[in-house]
Amino acid sequence: MQTQPYVYDNDDELPPAISHRSRWRRSNETLRRSHPAAGPASQHDEAEDDFQISYQASHAEALMLSTALAPFFHDRILADVLAPVKGGKEATVYCCQAHPSTGLDLIAAKIYRPRAHRSLSNDAPYREGREMLDDQGKGIRDARRHRALAKKTRFGKDVAIGSWIEHEYATLKVLYAAGADVPRPIARVETTILMAYLGDVRQPAPNLHGVNLPRGAARPLFERLLAHVELMLAHNRVHADLSAYNILYWQGKATIIDFPQAVFALSNRNAYTFLLRDLTRLCQYFERYGIHASAEDLAQGLWERFQLAQL
Ligand SMILES: Nc1ncnc2c1ncn2[C@@H]1O[C@H](COP(=O)(O)OP(=O)(O)O)[C@@H](O)[C@H]1O
Ligand SMILES: [Mg+2]
Repeated sequence: MQTQPYVYDNDDELPPAISHRSRWRRSNETLRRSHPAAGPASQHDEAEDDFQISYQASHAEALMLSTALAPFFHDRILADVLAPVKGGKEATVYCCQAHPSTGLDLIAAKIYRPRAHRSLSNDAPYREGREMLDDQGKGIRDARRHRALAKKTRFGKDVAIGSWIEHEYATLKVLYAAGADVPRPIARVETTILMAYLGDVRQPAPNLHGVNLPRGAARPLFERLLAHVELMLAHNRVHADLSAYNILYWQGKATIIDFPQAVFALSNRNAYTFLLRDLTRLCQYFERYGIHASAEDLAQGLWERFQLAQL
């Protein structure tokens, strides 16, 4: 298993982690059995000694975590799994302690379920205009995987979900580099993406639905989010599932998350429809704060400037 190059950046102000916690170390043998890629004991004892999960997971969940996260422990990116943040249809996000050598504090691990398929039967509108990607971020070329994809075999479904995850990671990288308010991507292996964690150990950042914005905060936030929709479009991306649920709010700042379905504006014929839907949901949310904006006008204005290459 090869890992992507890691992206580190110490500028983020991540809150401090708790210092006292019970430790639950996985035995080397259990880890080796559940993660054969960890290799023979002699090479990996040191790394395996570092594998720990403070979070009291069930046996099945602990095995899942050890399989999904072992490469990050081995590479000294993660030091501990502290708590689950949220489990959704396709993925569960965990709050993890970064390894001290990274210079980071908390890291979010988004672990996709092995058979998580974002309604795969219904994913064609999102996939249009984008390549299926392998776990190295390269377009899938070989006939075997294309056949499996077409026939929707079990293997084909694994290839498809791998492509979704790679798209999410690649999109995060592009948008983070462009200065968008998205979590900093840190690493990706198979079914897991590591990214900057929003929140602290006691409280993960709530989504916009879960907060009452302070007086005067709604208008600037709305405008900043619109600016980010524009920035994404300027980088040829439409989120395509933007809503208050996929915007986290922490210390007065909004961060847009959840990008596997993001589409390429230039090559996806549904891009405008998705853009309009994203803006409609955004406008609907901000209505409650007395902000009345026309999603149609905003979408048309943005789209026109995008097509005239004015963004
Ligand atoms: N970087 C992060 N920091 C803190 N919490 C996060 C982070 N990313 C996701 N979450 C939490 O996990 C939930 C699910 O993540 P999301 O990427 O939206 O996946 P899903 O496809 O399951 O909706 C989010 O609603 C949020 O509560
Ligand atoms: Mg989500």
